[in-house]
Amino acid sequence: MSEAFGFREFGGPQVQVFFDRPDPVPNPAEVLVRVTVASVNPLDFKLRSGIAPQFYGEQPFPHVLGAEATGVVLAVGAEVEGIAVGDTVFGCTLTGAGTFARTTVLDGANTARKPEGLRDDWAATIPVAVTSALNAVDQLGLPGGATVLVNGVGGGVGLVTAQVARDRGLNVIGTGGTAKRTLAEAVGVTFVDYTDGDAVRQVRDLAPDGVDGVVDLVGGASLRAVAPLAREVGKVVSVTDPTVSELGGEMVRRRVDRSDLERAAALMVQGRLDPYVVKTYPFSQAAEALALVEHGHALGKVVIDMA
Ligand SMILES: NC(=O)c1ccc[n+]([C@@H]2O[C@H](COP(=O)([O-])OP(=O)(O)OC[C@H]3O[C@@H](n4cnc5c(N)ncnc54)[C@H](OP(=O)(O)O)[C@@H]3O)[C@@H](O)[C@H]2O)c1
Repeated sequence: MSEAFGFREFGGPQVQVFFDRPDPVPNPAEVLVRVTVASVNPLDFKLRSGIAPQFYGEQPFPHVLGAEATGVVLAVGAEVEGIAVGDTVFGCTLTGAGTFARTTVLDGANTARKPEGLRDDWAATIPVAVTSALNAVDQLGLPGGATVLVNGVGGGVGLVTAQVARDRGLNVIGTGGTAKRTLAEAVGVTFVDYTDGDAVRQVRDLAPDGVDGVVDLVGGASLRAVAPLAREVGKVVSVTDPTVSELGGEMVRRRVDRSDLERAAALMVQGRLDPYVVKTYPFSQAAEALALVEHGHALGKVVIDMA
């Protein structure tokens, strides 16, 4: 048995609970790990609220929170290649096993060995947040010197998107609340504080002819406001709001295979990408960690250290 943090029914934070569960048994495509760091994402509270119950299949409650983690391999499924017992790996769980837990199973194809010199907490942010940023910038495919608007630049995906874009020679304008300015500017973003008034007008002042592409991390009315800033209608991608297609744009096509994980890890090891882990909680404060992300104005990444 090992300790886990999850929820006893779909709902708000009041349904969250610590409990003991048997160590999960890896299927042939999975690895069993002792979790060292779990990373927190908006996906976690969205799944808890019941937006995708099919994610948990026939599994009974309580379900375990968390989708990505770093951990030490305890057992390897027969079909998993390139990973051995004792390796430190990072990856995501696709079978609803959760990662806010002392042990869990990760999907072998969506898991990679952690390279020398990469911190466990940084690695834990790669499978969901960092690869989303890579996929978004890849999909826009803008040439060096172009200007991209990152809507929601101060959060977990936003700060990474800005760095990946800068690394490719793009100019980045980013929107966010006041507390995001310092870090955004530190990674080379021309920052637009939406609390200073109309964000669209502020971007127009910076780019009177519009921008070459938009990466949206906010959705809803905010997405609808900024989408027309793209000079070309199709050059808007969102990681969060499928109605982007009604605006001529596209959802970011997600890919979390091992090569993407390794590509992101290499950028970090080379000093070209910092996931900005701004807050680390002990496992006993998993609820506080999730609450910080759930309030909707997180700065950088929030992680749970299981050590
Ligand atoms: N499809 C996928 O695989 C995938 C993967 C990762 C994330 N996502 C989704 O992408 C979204 C962003 O993820 P995340 O991890 O970056 O979330 P996050 O860390 O919570 O960051 C969201 C950021 O947006 C800012 N924001 C809120 N309203 C804004 C507005 N009107 N204008 C500009 N900024 C605003 C927030 O703070 P301030 O308002 O204080 O600036 C916050 O910094 C979430 O909905 C998440 O579920 C999807």
